[in-house]
Amino acid sequence: MRIQRIAIENREDNLEEVDLSQLDSVIEKFKNKKGITIPVLQAVQQIYGYLPAKAFDLLSEKTGIKKSELYGVATFYAQFRLKPVGKHIVKVCHGTACHVQGANIISESILEALKIADGETTTDGFYTVESVACLGCCSLAPVIMIDDEVFGKLSGKTAVNVIKEYQLKHNN
Ligand code: FES
Repeated sequence: MRIQRIAIENREDNLEEVDLSQLDSVIEKFKNKKGITIPVLQAVQQIYGYLPAKAFDLLSEKTGIKKSELYGVATFYAQFRLKPVGKHIVKVCHGTACHVQGANIISESILEALKIADGETTTDGFYTVESVACLGCCSLAPVIMIDDEVFGKLSGKTAVNVIKEYQLKHNN
């Protein structure tokens, strides 16, 4: 279980410009319905790639879900992000098979090459890198996934090559 305490009013992205009109369709779809907290948050994340602080105020006001409940759910489930992410997500598997096959070296090599820490986004906004549990393709361990593409049987060096080549291919 992931426990994270957030001071709502102190969230860094609270000052960020977010086009809240994009939430109209979500509010329309879910208003006056019960048990909708998770689907609402999933829909919002689908739009922005994360859950902007400002969206919580509007969602609470329009759907009647308490802000504390929205934050409670958003911080409980690992699927939800409270910070903006890069254009492409690199998931480094740290499940058992990948761990045994050197997942730590893969993470270290990628993070060093990109000059960020785990969970952070590169300064150009291209990559966010995060450690995750089993990606479901253990026979290819150690594995990383970039967006929906899986890369396996990696070493630290080949993992870095993969992220460099992927960036060259998708940098437009
Ligand atoms: S442990 Fe990495 S894919 Fe299963």
